[in-house]
Amino acid sequence: MKKFTNAVIYGHKDANEILVENGVIKAIGKDLGPADEVIDLEGKLVTAPYVDPHLHLDYVYTLSELGKEGAGSGTLFEAIEMWPKFKETLTVEGVKTLALKGIMDEVSQGVQYIRTHIDVTDPKFTGLKAMLELREELKDIVDIQIVSFPQQGMYTYKGGRDLVEEALKMGADVVGGIPHYEPAREFGEKSVHDIVELALKYNKLIDVHCDETDDPHSRFVELLNALVLMEDYGEKTTASHTCSFGSADDSYAYRMFDLFKKSRMNFISCPTENAYLQGRQDTYPKRRGLTRVKEFMEYGINVAFAQDSINDPWYPMGNGNMMNILDNGIHLAQIMSPAEIDKDLDLITYNGARCLNIQDRYGLDVGKDANFIVLNGDSPFDVIRNRANVLASVRKGEYLFKQKPVEYEVNVLKGRLI
Ligand code: FE2
Repeated sequence: MKKFTNAVIYGHKDANEILVENGVIKAIGKDLGPADEVIDLEGKLVTAPYVDPHLHLDYVYTLSELGKEGAGSGTLFEAIEMWPKFKETLTVEGVKTLALKGIMDEVSQGVQYIRTHIDVTDPKFTGLKAMLELREELKDIVDIQIVSFPQQGMYTYKGGRDLVEEALKMGADVVGGIPHYEPAREFGEKSVHDIVELALKYNKLIDVHCDETDDPHSRFVELLNALVLMEDYGEKTTASHTCSFGSADDSYAYRMFDLFKKSRMNFISCPTENAYLQGRQDTYPKRRGLTRVKEFMEYGINVAFAQDSINDPWYPMGNGNMMNILDNGIHLAQIMSPAEIDKDLDLITYNGARCLNIQDRYGLDVGKDANFIVLNGDSPFDVIRNRANVLASVRKGEYLFKQKPVEYEVNVLKGRLI
């Protein structure tokens, strides 16, 4: 029996201790009695681990790799032009090496659950094979869900839909799609029907790159929502991005809030990525690129934040730091009232877990795996305001990592006031 004591425990106001037995939370409370090992968390905030519910692990660090191959200055358009050529050169080992680097960026900063979109518009399925291996090899340190994602669409060439289905048969967990990228609206709609049909056929989750455009007429989210509402499949479905919903007319948006609430569909916003990518054709005023995160929260519609990219042709930055994502997101979505701040950490923890449909086994509750992180602060407000780093990550009761407190060789105040 192991006891973590002297902690501020997120969602458990009157508790300061977590008792762990065989990797499972046995109790959360006060004065929980003796244990074989007692670990003092020194008054720090403990939360459930970070969840990154949308990340392209087969792309991470490919921007730098493209540069090595002579992609030039590594600008967005140069890199995108190079991508199909680069894709042909991928090997399973090569993808694994870069993906592992991206996974370690995230896990070493408190993430223990990742959903990754893997491009399956490759008849050799190189990225998918690499990720299926990593999902198994790394399961003790991180849970990975794989989306069968057609980056080049299902209907921009013949056979795209079948590649998505084949990837599901090979072991992908989630059906993906990109209807706004299909070459005509009808094909976008057809792809949304396909996505739902495939999910039902193979009993898979759904996560669609949906309306990632500023065009307010891109409304595939409406069809996706209607289909999963009819099938009672909303809790297993996520609409990622929905940037166009941020540009839609209010009368349309408020009708959709009611329908989204009915289906219980999930949403993911990628604040840094979409702030960077959207609004490119705007002069001024320039749109922020985000979906209506604040209103989703007000309506009780589940919404989470995600990293999306780490140093790939779509976004040069990204380092797997979910607190950075949260910090950007709460600024862009203007969610900083005291009541909102109390719930903001959910955007990178519990809300992401609902997108992954793992809410039954995720979180700080008795009977669940003892997975949690320790943040360098003593309240949600404190850790968000200071963009606190993760001091430790615990999985099944054991440390994945633990940091030493920062030590200065020279203290700014030494010899001045003290
Ligand atoms: Fe994405």
